[in-house]
Amino acid sequence: MPAFAPLPAPEENQTLDACRPSRETLELLATRRSTLARNMTGPGPSPEEVDALIALGARVPDHGKLFPWRFIVFEGEARDRFGAILEAALRQTEPDGPDERYRLERERFTRAPVVIAVISDVTDSPKIPEWEQILSAGAVCQNLLIGASAMGYAAQWLTEWYAYDDAARQAMGLTDSERVAGFVYVGTAAEAPVERPRRTPRVTRWNR
Ligand SMILES: Cc1cc2nc3c(=O)[nH]c(=O)nc-3n(C[C@H](O)[C@H](O)[C@H](O)COP(=O)(O)O)c2cc1C
Repeated sequence: MPAFAPLPAPEENQTLDACRPSRETLELLATRRSTLARNMTGPGPSPEEVDALIALGARVPDHGKLFPWRFIVFEGEARDRFGAILEAALRQTEPDGPDERYRLERERFTRAPVVIAVISDVTDSPKIPEWEQILSAGAVCQNLLIGASAMGYAAQWLTEWYAYDDAARQAMGLTDSERVAGFVYVGTAAEAPVERPRRTPRVTRWNR
């Protein structure tokens, strides 16, 4: 069971480390892998740990300090209730089953103990392009993955069909301009991930 101790929350204008050499952080980044949601089990983070994880997630670069994202936490029975909404949405679009598909939707959010939806909420700004605000929301998702791992939990960043489904969007209370950047599933790995194929990063040194 991962131990949780409160993390520092710096005061505004407090001087902070410009860098923090950490072999552990480098090893985490060098070996990080997602755990498939379907390979997750409990325990998951406690409500206090979820709050701490979200605070870590929110420490991303944010051009213009617009905070162009928000969070929706699914935990406990709320996951079943959201699953029922997903099942109902599927029954509308695919009324002829099969039952196995309905069950899958009903149980989708219970694959992991906690699901954190990161919602991209772009502000119409003359100075900060939409693209940059969306990138910031993506950075939040990645921070959650890394933060979860360092707290002792497995995680996966998914969108799946319900990120784009009107009924699911409505059930989450999204405004027309809001978009799901990701559903970050957090729990414990029932099965260890293995390394996946990777391409060598495409890098050029600009020299014209
Ligand atoms: C924005 C975004 C959405 C994703 N949505 C899905 C998804 O719906 N289904 C899926 O199987 N993987 C999805 N992935 C990929 C997984 O999160 C994961 O990155 C992939 O399984 C590779 O694993 P790794 O993180 O260990 O490299 C998505 C990734 C991103 C960045």
